[in-house]
Amino acid sequence: MTTIQTETARRRTFAIISHPDAGKTTLTEKLLLFGGAIQAAGAVRARGEQRRTRSDWMKMERERGISVSASVMTFDYGGHAFNLLDTPGHEDFSEDTYRVLTAVDSAVMVIDAARGIEPQTRKLFEVCRLRDVPIITFINKMDREARDPFELMDEIEQDLALDVTPANWPIGMGRDFQGCYDLMGDRLVLMERTKDKQGDRIAEVKGLEDAQLDRLLGEAPAAELRETAEMARGLCPAFDRQAYRDGTMTPVFFGSALNAFGVQDLLDALGAFAPPPRPLQSDVRMVQPEEDKVSGFVFKIQANMDPKHRDRVAFVRMVSGHFKRGQRLKHVRTGKSLAVSNPVMFLAGDRATTEEAWPGDIIGIPNHGQLSIGDTLTEGEDLRFRGVPSFAPELLQRVRATDPMRAKHLGAALQQLAEEGVARVFKPRFGADWVVGVLGALQFDVLQERISSEYNVPVRFEPAELYTARWVSADSHAELKKFCDANNTAIADDHEGDPVYLARNAWHLDRGQKDWPQIRFTATKDPG
Ligand code: G4P
Repeated sequence: MTTIQTETARRRTFAIISHPDAGKTTLTEKLLLFGGAIQAAGAVRARGEQRRTRSDWMKMERERGISVSASVMTFDYGGHAFNLLDTPGHEDFSEDTYRVLTAVDSAVMVIDAARGIEPQTRKLFEVCRLRDVPIITFINKMDREARDPFELMDEIEQDLALDVTPANWPIGMGRDFQGCYDLMGDRLVLMERTKDKQGDRIAEVKGLEDAQLDRLLGEAPAAELRETAEMARGLCPAFDRQAYRDGTMTPVFFGSALNAFGVQDLLDALGAFAPPPRPLQSDVRMVQPEEDKVSGFVFKIQANMDPKHRDRVAFVRMVSGHFKRGQRLKHVRTGKSLAVSNPVMFLAGDRATTEEAWPGDIIGIPNHGQLSIGDTLTEGEDLRFRGVPSFAPELLQRVRATDPMRAKHLGAALQQLAEEGVARVFKPRFGADWVVGVLGALQFDVLQERISSEYNVPVRFEPAELYTARWVSADSHAELKKFCDANNTAIADDHEGDPVYLARNAWHLDRGQKDWPQIRFTATKDPG
């Protein structure tokens, strides 16, 4: 195999999807411990705190206990190179999360054993399903009172319409939880209730009938294990790697992130089953990871990660080729060439300059606003990856600077936030106010905080009495102009100067569409 084939084959780029509190942070931390990326438990949280204190607007995160910014963590384990893309957990930030999911090849779904599938899990799962992202399920907190494992498996199967197959089977639960029986490898994996230990106690056994089970677990727990595990084997289909890769079957691991139990098996499964970087369809052709030429796409922009730098970083998922620091890449949307002289990789939250990147890796490119979400970078070829979704802004409000002296800076602040992709920003052709569109109400609070702390423009959001926004386009430029002129009080321009129709109510929208059949009204805007 050539180097690029080897490097591609050993990469696993994945995200964890879960409902807040299911244990994503804890699991992330344990994964990083196994990967040697951090030395002590608690470091993910501690580092988070450190980062938060650096930036004022992130006070919000702390106060509300939500995590606003996502990052990328890279670690090696068992010969594989893992890229774990963190996803913000709060439902108001799911737009960001959705985009992160376009940059991964697989996902781990963490479920709280007492709660089962929760709303955010379901939403994120649906996004994974759109792209057939393979999912490994981790049922967490088995050391607490949990629901019956059969019931949990059944819920996943029914609720998500997925085939489920247990990879391991729990022995007891809550205080009586002893560990799991590895159904794939016929091993007993026992939990040790000591913090900060690495690895579980393994006992090789010769199947469920092995008399060692009685000795190691006690007779009654062993008998119960035999009965339930046999039943699980009988009721569930066997693991089918292809079905998993197609996104129709999920292997289920029971574990306890807090006790680092089941985490190693989860990592081994990611290494053994999860797909390496996949070929990606562009508008002109399929792009194979092992191609010589570098290509990638921007799936996330983060501004002001470090106030000392006042920079913004475009997160690029590498699709093909062997990227080297200093390489010039073509920014396909503008046709301009870009020297990537100081790319960053995100090692457990720290920034480090990297010399190279392979397919599946994520690099951060500091820039001053040239790069937008959905942009493609190549070594010169005119192709575009179109996978990054755009979302319809569901809530609209007007924003006003409360200090008239700072009002003129509001436009620049909004422009930057729009480029970052955190909100849609519209400048009505009539009137002095700006209109901001978001997916979740909490985003207005975040924006208010950010605009005042990062741009020093105190602002107020006010109800806009608007129903919805629609991008308008037409085959004929003249027709579009005629429409915009005739409806000029309802027309605004987005941050890229494209016209948007701001409808006051459903009737207004309906009327516009009926009267102007030549005009296309779209709820989202395709990037690029
Ligand atoms: P999140 O990122 O998905 O929101 O969840 P997080 O890891 O922060 O975990 C949420 C809570 O669940 C934490 O408790 C955490 O310690 C606990 N937890 C995670 N995994 C397990 C597990 O396997 N067993 C048990 N018993 N608890 C688990 P907390 O009290 O909210 O926070 P903390 O004070 O313990 O940090």
